[in-house]
Amino acid sequence: MTIKQLTDQSARLCFIGAGNMASSIIGGLVEQGYPASLIHAADPDIAQLAKLKKENGIHTTTDNQQAIAEADALILAVKPQVMGAVCAPLSGTVRQKRPLIISIAAGIKVSNLIDWLGDDLPVVRTMPNTPALVQSGATGLYANQYVTKMQQDIATTIFGAIGMTRWFDQEEDMDRVVAVSGSGPAYFFLVMEAIEQAGVKLGLSPSIARDLTVQTALGAAKLAQASDVELAELRRRVTSPGGTTEAALKVLQEGGLVELFDRALIAASDRSKELAD
Ligand SMILES: NC(=O)c1ccc[n+]([C@@H]2O[C@H](COP(=O)([O-])OP(=O)(O)OC[C@H]3O[C@@H](n4cnc5c(N)ncnc54)[C@H](OP(=O)(O)O)[C@@H]3O)[C@@H](O)[C@H]2O)c1
Repeated sequence: MTIKQLTDQSARLCFIGAGNMASSIIGGLVEQGYPASLIHAADPDIAQLAKLKKENGIHTTTDNQQAIAEADALILAVKPQVMGAVCAPLSGTVRQKRPLIISIAAGIKVSNLIDWLGDDLPVVRTMPNTPALVQSGATGLYANQYVTKMQQDIATTIFGAIGMTRWFDQEEDMDRVVAVSGSGPAYFFLVMEAIEQAGVKLGLSPSIARDLTVQTALGAAKLAQASDVELAELRRRVTSPGGTTEAALKVLQEGGLVELFDRALIAASDRSKELAD
């Protein structure tokens, strides 16, 4: 479903919690042409609401009940630790109007949302990541059995405004998504930090080492995205036998980089399960 098709449906989107992540999604939607008049945001922070209203022209309120009154989709974008307290008072209206419920909170299960809001509701659990702040996010989505195909399309379009989307059939897959893309930006920042610092040790200025590192990461990601060959093949193509890249990769591989990432992602996935439980 395109933004235009979503607009044609006049789908009213309501964000509960208007912090970093909600602001990014709202900014992405408005930038892509979604009418601000169809977007509502509720948050206790008046200054944050004023900023959002000024930048995007959406409806804002400090009253969650008022915000959800006419919502077709409710995007729950508060911190996980306050989600239960935020949802409970909304359950009466939600049971009556039955909007699509979308949660972006890490570690909050569909069963938690059902407990707080009511049985048999259409619920989508998502896991976006921080590059959403610059509309380059990756979002994993999971829908329960009450979500219609049309509602899935609506969710895809909303999260498509901040990057790429992928649906999963099993809720357990969200722990794997957390391990790869949810926590993933930090792995790349660490690798970039390490390259930057090594470049400085070799004698580059800190600013040049940073610029070269970041641009190389961006270029490598764009090349991988634009290419239809395996990542391993892209690596082989820049690794001439007996050359500089081969010398560096040998050190990384002998140092156990691949095994380290195996262990790191298992640790992230296990921790995601623990936090959700
Ligand atoms: N940031 C990320 O990269 C990322 C990635 C994946 C998932 N997420 C998930 O996204 C959610 C939001 O994260 P965020 O980074 O956007 O957090 P955030 O910037 O702190 O935004 C949360 C907002 O919710 C507001 N809020 C608190 N209590 C509320 C209530 N009762 N009713 C309405 N709004 C209320 C907060 O206001 P106050 O500040 O005044 O309390 C704040 O403005 C979290 O559940 C997080 O797990 C974030």
